[in-house]
Amino acid sequence: MQKKAIVVKIGGSTLGNRDTTLEDLVELQKQGKSLVVVHGGAKVTSEWLARLSIPTSFVDGLRVTDAETLKVVAAALGGLVNKELVVAIQALGGKAVGLSGCDGNLLWASVKSPEMGYVGEIVAVDPTPLKLLLNAGYMPVVAPISFGSVEGRVTLLNVNGDTAAGEIAAALAAEKLIFLTDVDGIHDGSERAVQKLNLAGAKDMIASGIAFGGMIPKIEASLRALTTSKVVRIIDGRVAHALRDDITGQARQIVKSGGTTIVSE
Ligand SMILES: Nc1ncnc2c1ncn2[C@@H]1O[C@H](COP(=O)(O)OP(=O)(O)OP(=O)(O)O)[C@@H](O)[C@H]1O
Ligand SMILES: [Mg+2]
Repeated sequence: MQKKAIVVKIGGSTLGNRDTTLEDLVELQKQGKSLVVVHGGAKVTSEWLARLSIPTSFVDGLRVTDAETLKVVAAALGGLVNKELVVAIQALGGKAVGLSGCDGNLLWASVKSPEMGYVGEIVAVDPTPLKLLLNAGYMPVVAPISFGSVEGRVTLLNVNGDTAAGEIAAALAAEKLIFLTDVDGIHDGSERAVQKLNLAGAKDMIASGIAFGGMIPKIEASLRALTTSKVVRIIDGRVAHALRDDITGQARQIVKSGGTTIVSE
């Protein structure tokens, strides 16, 4: 039987901060862990949109994506960010292959709502390419660009990295989904990170407005992942070795203090 995968979403908000995440990924791979990386890259994408004088806006954490924005999103995420990550992992001695949701039919999507433009909502996941790479000892590094049919024409679609990570974790029945981001978990009304949430508690965070913007797709993705996965963690990617400690710490039954854990019970 294939080993259960751990899906790691790397937030664009922490990428480039010289954090230790890539070192941790390589170390964990060498220990024999099956890792699937899904990355964001909102910051890099926004920088390129600004250079090209294309105005941009977000609704509930998702980028409104017209035809011109879509081209820049695909180039930034599927190109620059994805390749820089793969090269950096390889430079550290890891084995990685970059791909996007378009490759090998990985993520098939449809338009989420017409007002959002080319923003995709995932309708089907084919995890075959990920399984092939994992079996061959590679770490797939996934850019969350997908594809789908819009008015009878197949086109690229812009999918949020969290959404892609949640769907991939669900399709792989992953052991765990970990979001590395630029906050220390889901904050409650008093700005403290909540240690543990169940499904109802997580939904409440959105309904009450306590979770907003970029936290909304993370919680929604967690709910998707928990249909087959046991646990989701939202942790601070800015903390040195946060990823390694989260994965190996749990194996050693160490009680973790940081971050938010979401479980399905
Ligand atoms: N209740 C909450 N607790 C913590 N953070 C919250 C909450 N509600 C909203 N947020 C916001 O969510 C942000 C994290 O999501 P964001 O989309 O900005 O980063 P990311 O997903 O890690 O990166 P990327 O989108 O580039 O992949 C935090 O910086 C914070 O501003
Ligand atoms: Mg985000």
